[in-house]
Amino acid sequence: MEKEINILGIESSCDETAASVVRNGTEVLSNVVSTQIAIHRKFGGVVPEIASRKHIAHIMPVIDKALQDAGLPLEQIDAIAVTYGPGLVGALLVGLSAAKGLAFGTGKPLIGVNHLEGHVFANFLADRELKPPFLALVVSGGHTSLLVVEDYRTFRLLGQTRDDAAGEAFDKIARFMGLPYPGGPEIEKLALSGNPSAIDFPRPLLPDCYDFSFSGLKSAVINYVHTEEQRGTELNRADVAASFQQAIVDVLVKRCQEALKATGLSRIVLAGGVSANRHLQEALAGGARAVGAELVHPTPILCTDNAVMVAVRGYYQYLDHDFAGLWLNADPNLKLGEK
Ligand code: KG4
Ligand code: ZN
Repeated sequence: MEKEINILGIESSCDETAASVVRNGTEVLSNVVSTQIAIHRKFGGVVPEIASRKHIAHIMPVIDKALQDAGLPLEQIDAIAVTYGPGLVGALLVGLSAAKGLAFGTGKPLIGVNHLEGHVFANFLADRELKPPFLALVVSGGHTSLLVVEDYRTFRLLGQTRDDAAGEAFDKIARFMGLPYPGGPEIEKLALSGNPSAIDFPRPLLPDCYDFSFSGLKSAVINYVHTEEQRGTELNRADVAASFQQAIVDVLVKRCQEALKATGLSRIVLAGGVSANRHLQEALAGGARAVGAELVHPTPILCTDNAVMVAVRGYYQYLDHDFAGLWLNADPNLKLGEK
């Protein structure tokens, strides 16, 4: 029988303190997430200093619980995988320091995981048959990137946002409309009772590239609301939310279809917090099917930040002997595919 590989994953890049044990990259033995959303909601967004302090308070209990839930003592862990970027530097440092301490104390290998690659790798749990090459759309609070996953270690970036990330646009418009943080799920909820074609917001598509730009759309929504207010028209908030969401989804789907056609790939995966959006999932599944491809997306719990994805990414790095030294530092601006 082949040796079982148990990876402890640790994640603290933003406002979730998380730890998980995953066996052989597929079997989730535990998944502990301590979220700070309720705390940051009071401020309308993540306050980095508060996030770091809360991570410090939660990191060890979260790791202990992940080991306990998995029923494994630390000695039976084969490697410790931790997110070292991108993210908030103070937040990243908490998980990273805990991981380094554990690696040093136990002599187990340390694996530095790119958070964005983690999001992409969550899809290996959603579809056990999934194998590279495939296309990936990463849509989170800080990123909107379209890339080809060539193999388990090679990522070729096709395009990314030039200004706001998709999640950031959701959060900013939600905040503008007085909805709580995080805005994505709130807009999605409000949009359910709205008409997505009520308002014709712009669908910004930059020519001759796969890049995105959402700041013009954001301004268009804000201008629309201001103009309606000045006219004294009663605003249909659900229509605004639905039309805004539709504009973002249309742009994402169109770009993905173009990339699928150009690359000839037959699979596309969704990754990052915005991948939890049901409307995006359905529209992209339909868009992919229309060009002969199939969509894979993570289960809801693995769409937003978690440590399962870190352990899964770490597993493939373990197989590659892609280990980090104890000098590994946090890299808040780490890019996809970068070391
Ligand atoms: O990946 P994630 O949890 O954290 C980052 O790495 O950024 O993504 C968070 C982002 C936030 O902008 C949040 O509003 C967005 O994902 N989000 C959603 C939904 N759920 C989370 N956006 C649209 N619809 C959703 N259902
Ligand atoms: Zn994330």
